[in-house]
Amino acid sequence: QSSYAFGGRHQAGIVTPAQDRLHFAAFDVTSESRDDLILLLRAWTAAARAMTSGRPVGEGVPTSYDAPPDDTGEALDLDASGLTLTFGFGPTLFERDGKPRFGLGGKQPAALRELPHFPADKLDPARSNGDLCVQACAHDPQVAVHAIRNLSRIAFGTAAMRWAQLGFGRTSSTSTAQATPRNLFGFKDGTANLKSQDREGVEEFVWVGEGDDPRADWLAGGTYLVARRINMQIETWDRSSLREQEALVGRDREEGAPLSGGTEFTEPDFDLQGREGPLVGLNSHVRLAHPSQNKGVKMLRRGYNFTDGSNALGRLDAGLFFVAFVRDPDVHYIPMQTRLSAQDGLMEYLQHTGSGLWAVPPGVRRRTGFVGDTLF
Ligand code: HEM
Repeated sequence: QSSYAFGGRHQAGIVTPAQDRLHFAAFDVTSESRDDLILLLRAWTAAARAMTSGRPVGEGVPTSYDAPPDDTGEALDLDASGLTLTFGFGPTLFERDGKPRFGLGGKQPAALRELPHFPADKLDPARSNGDLCVQACAHDPQVAVHAIRNLSRIAFGTAAMRWAQLGFGRTSSTSTAQATPRNLFGFKDGTANLKSQDREGVEEFVWVGEGDDPRADWLAGGTYLVARRINMQIETWDRSSLREQEALVGRDREEGAPLSGGTEFTEPDFDLQGREGPLVGLNSHVRLAHPSQNKGVKMLRRGYNFTDGSNALGRLDAGLFFVAFVRDPDVHYIPMQTRLSAQDGLMEYLQHTGSGLWAVPPGVRRRTGFVGDTLF
């Protein structure tokens, strides 16, 4: 699809089909004024409405010849390119150093806290957290980058970019109409993902319900965004046998079928035994992440492959920028990550280097509304 509506019950960029390109940015608010914050969210909303419809920031209304143009221009000849912009609020927007901010004191959702330390985490504070986040996804990378650049420009004086991440290929499907893509380990990723067609699953595992959190009724119809920058030791992976690779994932590489047999979408059989134990191994990723091993929990994954150049050892600084949308991180994310970080055989090849959790408010419903208006 070439464009997605910005307004609606839910923000776009969650259950809308995952596009191929990502530019994700986290911001810190540099002003302590509630009015400045609201003005920023209003200005971001106007710009987001324009850009997601393929129009320039400022709607192309000419400004003075003696002033810089409202829009930076690099996307002028491109269409909307399926652009979605998804905004989130971090824990530090509500409270910092024990002090409430922006008069939002009593409204911080109980689950909106910095994520706990997981085993083997090697987080870089300069790639973690932030008061606000914006996920820009599009088919064309120039459109996604243009969107973040212009939102950052609009924020000047009120909020500053804290860190950003580019992603170049989706690692999940969020619709049954999409083919399953592959991650940088070469395996299909997204096969068993929660898909938009599973309406009941999406209601149960993605959208915050009325009454989920009495302090945060403003978040009903929203969700939580978990981001993890996960480096993959691909040079080491590339020297390990296909047998080892498949055993750690729990699926075969070619087809993406569980090692217990069948085709890509066959459910794994965790009881089926081979000569050396269960065919889908005890420390395989698919076993440890499967709902049957996690009290029925599912999540909507929407991550991207990344490479950020190479490191001093001549290896690619590459991996998976994991993004998931969950109804309650305390139930639908933290327990599974704790288990994966401690037991997942893939962890030998992984290093978590960035992290963040944001509450994603519902979509903008009114013409005069702005993103997050239910909070103010
Ligand atoms: C499934 C790879 C990180 C949760 C899968 C699959 C692969 C994969 C190949 C099988 C295909 C599929 O069903 O999508 C990876 C890689 C990761 C990573 C390479 C890191 C670089 C994570 C993390 C989580 C997670 C951090 C959550 C905390 C899941 C879940 C499934 C899954 C829930 C579906 C399991 C099922 O229902 O069968 N992953 N994954 N993954 N992964 Fe990951």
